[in-house]
Amino acid sequence: MFSNLTAEALRVIRNMTGDGSAEYASLWQFPRESERGDLATSVALGLSKTLKQNPLDLAKQLAEALGRVAGVERAEAMAPGYVNIWLTPAALMEELQETRVTVAPAKTRKKEAPVIIDFCGPNIAKPLGVHHLGSHVIGQAIINLYRHTGANVIGWSYPGDWGTQFGKLAVAYRKWGTGKSPKEHSVEELLALYVRFHDEAEKEPSLEDEARAAFKKIEDGDPELRAFWADVVAVSNAALVRLYGRLHLHVDVETAESFYEERMAPIVEEGRKKGVFQTGEGGALIVPFPEGKGLPPLLMQKSDGTTLYATRDLAMVRYRIDTYHPSALYYVVDVAQSMHFKQLFETCRMLGWELPLLEHTVFGRMRFPEASMSTRKGTSLRMEQVLDEAVKRAGDTIRAHGDTIQTDDPSGLAETMGIGAVVYGILSQNRRMDMVFDWDKMLSFEGNSAPYLQYTHARARSVLRKAEGEEGKAKKGAVPPGMAPSERLLLRTLLQFPLVLEEARETRLPHKLTNFLYELCQAFNKFYNTEPILKAEDAARSFRLALTLLAADVLQSGAEILTLRVPDRM
Ligand code: ARG
Repeated sequence: MFSNLTAEALRVIRNMTGDGSAEYASLWQFPRESERGDLATSVALGLSKTLKQNPLDLAKQLAEALGRVAGVERAEAMAPGYVNIWLTPAALMEELQETRVTVAPAKTRKKEAPVIIDFCGPNIAKPLGVHHLGSHVIGQAIINLYRHTGANVIGWSYPGDWGTQFGKLAVAYRKWGTGKSPKEHSVEELLALYVRFHDEAEKEPSLEDEARAAFKKIEDGDPELRAFWADVVAVSNAALVRLYGRLHLHVDVETAESFYEERMAPIVEEGRKKGVFQTGEGGALIVPFPEGKGLPPLLMQKSDGTTLYATRDLAMVRYRIDTYHPSALYYVVDVAQSMHFKQLFETCRMLGWELPLLEHTVFGRMRFPEASMSTRKGTSLRMEQVLDEAVKRAGDTIRAHGDTIQTDDPSGLAETMGIGAVVYGILSQNRRMDMVFDWDKMLSFEGNSAPYLQYTHARARSVLRKAEGEEGKAKKGAVPPGMAPSERLLLRTLLQFPLVLEEARETRLPHKLTNFLYELCQAFNKFYNTEPILKAEDAARSFRLALTLLAADVLQSGAEILTLRVPDRM
């Protein structure tokens, strides 16, 4: 249906412009008010500028042609240059089939070159800051969007398991440790040692030199310190497994920074030979960028021969290309690293490599309300503190709503709701902007929030439970004559699901999906509050059950793409 309409619209547009190449990515809008039809387009407004013609005239021509497409009830031009289209009930139902199919994940197109999404990237032996939630949650949501729609996608984590933080920890462990082996420590204890190091180093700056020396020893292969390093990595990884379970994260491929230890030398050699890397002060190796690029030189190797974050990232680009031949590399990393990625990508180009699409899929700073949180001096707000606080607050909310919320597992529900609130709080904002968070908003049952989504879903499931045994009917419900406005709104909202997934994936903006789910919740609740479902008569009843089932399925599928969980009952 949409494809017929799109084909006809493009044919008319090409006739008008005489340009065979016209492609309109976002031809259709879905108006919220039904006076503007089931779908609309403003393409005539844009065309009027290029063609220097009256937009309303163009809209009229378009409306006339589109009105003849099968499944269109009527198409009307509206000033200053819109076309509004109403579909026949049968066409609407047919279109819903597409939504029904899209609820389940598509089969992966395995033959396609993969898309690699760089996400997570936790730093080992350092506290995970709250901004790391972005690379984890936004990254996973983007991966899920690709996977659900059949793309061959690899979610790739690149943990920081190499660097002076290990030297700091080794010094702290030697000086203030309890004598237990590092393996017997919890991550919290290791973090406490790390924090203590920072406190003491403020008074005693020579500790920093000791830490650097200790890390140099690790790099040079000192057996005892290497063993210490391996133990710390193991303890941290065990904690990450727990955390990833809570957040519903799945890493497909993982290579930590240490993996590239041996893979840097050939690249350094290549860069030097090609004259891209040049010798700077004291024998360091740098990449100077052409004037006009506005990029400061990038350090590739320090004068003592040690390598850097950028050196390893460059080696990883090479490794990914050679091993997976990807069509694109997307790095879901916060805005603080914008310069790093500009320099990295430019260096790849200067080396003359044949490159896939490279994108820093950036996200902004995150500001959480800190009032009730204990932030330790010298450390920023930690990721797990935020999650635990959210779960605690969700528990309070559940207790406060004791009469309306039904659950036999309050602590499980608090976890689902609390984690969901934070995740939703992130994914409902445009990742390109700085993000702010407000606990009351995040945990509200009324607004653009996880509890509202979860509650709406549970409400739909509860209706379906009461109609148990009628699933067959609920799947086949046909449009009864004379749809109520709230039915029509719900139906129109539902059929946007496939398009929304596509748009959210292509822009890598998960908030487009989140906002759609919010609209769907509103449309469902309006329908639920105005039309009887179980008490309706035969035809109306099965149609309404069909809408309810599809709404529940779309809410669940969409939520899971966003890494959320929606209980059937609450
Ligand atoms: N570990 C890094 C950090 O916490 C993030 C890694 C991002 N990915 C990359 N390929 N550089 O800052």
